Amino acid sequence: MLYEHPATAVRPREQDTAGGATAVAHPNIALIKYWGKRDERLFLPRTPSLSLTLDIFPTTTRVELAPGAGQDEVTFNGVPATGEALRRISAFLDLVRERAGSGERAVVDTRNTVPTGAGLASSASGFAALAVAAASAYGLGYDATALSRLARRGSGSASRSLFGGFAQWNAGVDTGSDEEADLSSHAEPVPAADLDPALVIAVVNAGPKDVSSRTAMRRTVDTSPLYEPWAASSLDDLTVMRSALLRGDLASVGEIAERNALGMHATMLAARPAVRYLAPASLTVLDAVLQLRRDGVLAYATMDAGPNVKVLCRRADAEQVAEAVRAAAQGGAVHIAGPGPGARLLDEAG
Ligand code: PMV
Repeated sequence: MLYEHPATAVRPREQDTAGGATAVAHPNIALIKYWGKRDERLFLPRTPSLSLTLDIFPTTTRVELAPGAGQDEVTFNGVPATGEALRRISAFLDLVRERAGSGERAVVDTRNTVPTGAGLASSASGFAALAVAAASAYGLGYDATALSRLARRGSGSASRSLFGGFAQWNAGVDTGSDEEADLSSHAEPVPAADLDPALVIAVVNAGPKDVSSRTAMRRTVDTSPLYEPWAASSLDDLTVMRSALLRGDLASVGEIAERNALGMHATMLAARPAVRYLAPASLTVLDAVLQLRRDGVLAYATMDAGPNVKVLCRRADAEQVAEAVRAAAQGGAVHIAGPGPGARLLDEAG
């Protein structure tokens, strides 16, 4: 049986609520990682990536046009944004305004339920929700593919949160034309058999990271002698994982995800200077995952730009995995996630 992707209920143009709109998006965790850009301005990745959208930690964002205002006003969980965070969101809104032919500033209210900046994909749910709400508020009338392309310009991984379940972000073509590259680099749903997957998330440290993923990626691509071999192997990992997903072969999906993530961290460790996101407690959790496998439980780890570890397993084993990981996570919180829906607009009533 093929896994049914929850519908992405993005409304067509005529129903766009020009003026103000609210959207919700969930984070996604990459099983084949995005690590490295080939074009920093257009956010074009070096390699395609593949992720699972989660059903926990949603971001809800309201964008309201503010006629006559001199600048955008942004709040995160009720706290006014300043500095780099405000600049990033304003630059993203500039792109939306340029496409809409509008000069109107906006009031943006974002509610995040995930710790920001801790390698838990808050930028993915954040820019996916912002893209959907802003495109609607400015009346762009985009479909899910166009919204995925737009979200990519805020944060590459956000392109995948437009879709529920498993999604692949295509690197896009290289014909020498910026327009063709931009048009072809978006996410799309990935067919999968019913794997009944869960991701157990061990929060080793919920604080913000020292080095942003943007800086770390750039340094890795520019200086790491391991980068090119990893990028080449990642293409193979993607092909093999897609057929494992179709077969419903969770053990293969997990093995490929774990080696792809460890390879990505190896590229960073070999960067000059090295970027190291993993903490001692991350390795203790990796040991617990190995022990689970020795005990016959299908459990595989993946890590992003932070010390937290996400463990792919069967839903039926998730409680057992969570217990093993909790003991290793040295007091950190442990969450269980399943496959979640794509980003969508909320009705004014709800
Ligand atoms: O798009 P960003 O800047 O959040 O980069 C995400 C990079 C990783 O989380 C490490 C990998 C991925 O594909 O999500």
